Amino acid sequence: MFPTHRPRRLRTSSLLRQMVRETVITTNDLIYPLFAVPGDRIAKEVKSMPGVYQLSVDKIVEDAKEVYDLGIPAIILFGIPDEKDDDATGAWHDCGIVPKASTAVKEAVPELIVIADTCLCEYTSHGHCGYLQVGDLSGRVLNDPTLELLKKTAVSQAKSGADIIAPSGMMDGFVQAIRTGLDEAGYQDTPIMSYAAKYASSYYGPFRDAAESAPQFGDRRTYQMDPANAREAIKEIELDIAEGADMLMVKPALSYMDIIWRVKQACNLPVAAYNVSGEYSMIKAAALNGWIDEERVVLETLTSFKRAGADLILTYHAKDAARWLS
Ligand code: PBG
Ligand code: ZN
Repeated sequence: MFPTHRPRRLRTSSLLRQMVRETVITTNDLIYPLFAVPGDRIAKEVKSMPGVYQLSVDKIVEDAKEVYDLGIPAIILFGIPDEKDDDATGAWHDCGIVPKASTAVKEAVPELIVIADTCLCEYTSHGHCGYLQVGDLSGRVLNDPTLELLKKTAVSQAKSGADIIAPSGMMDGFVQAIRTGLDEAGYQDTPIMSYAAKYASSYYGPFRDAAESAPQFGDRRTYQMDPANAREAIKEIELDIAEGADMLMVKPALSYMDIIWRVKQACNLPVAAYNVSGEYSMIKAAALNGWIDEERVVLETLTSFKRAGADLILTYHAKDAARWLS
């Protein structure tokens, strides 16, 4: 009773395995996140994210050059403003930190794609992703007034040179509002990469250290999605497609591979997966302890995102991965 079918036949040598390999991760698939802070010659490591830094604009430019030289096509910029207020002024003001960083990067490395994260949580005094009712401590963000701020934010980012706008606040109708704002301002050709299915995840903890954006009270569960829901992700992407999104994102990635898969089956747009801060920190911590082989675990993880359907991967591992892949 020996088997007739022997899948092992195709695993006998490295070259044969390479010939039948179904998924190949490349540097071209990666997007590297960067955190811009005011000041000069500042590089402050984020405690919970070894190897990730808050960088002043001059340092962002240095990093952008390195990223481009490594063959990574794009960065996504987050900003930490000098001052936070209830109107998130630092987000939409033309002198804001992200517009400043975008302009500097585009000047130094014109070909590198600059994606601007469009949200308000880094800029509001309470750390929520939009306007709150005055005196409301529940964290229930007011949807429609927030759209106006997001529109202004996106336009100032496009004006400063950002190539792609990436709204991440999970407000209803934000893609349509931003599309209208960009079109009216003459940026019809600026694509929108929507954080379409973004979950209220505990894996964002280290990012909030990096972006200094933890909510001061309440949580984000009235706007980000319930981790228990999958069908709802399809509803969200259908709306974003109807509103004019050019690319869709699923976030987080690692414990949401089924969502990446479903989204990929349900649409014809490029799908991006955000390999978030907590996912990065877990791998880093285990690697620094010598418990896992960092290179192999990272490449396996990134390959798995792609196998699940991701066309693009936002990851803090991007620079290391690019080196390992070259
Ligand atoms: C919020 C935002 C978050 C991340 C990026 N933008 C999540 C949050 O704080 O709710 C998380 C990214 C990461 O964890 O790497 N607009
Ligand atoms: Zn936000």
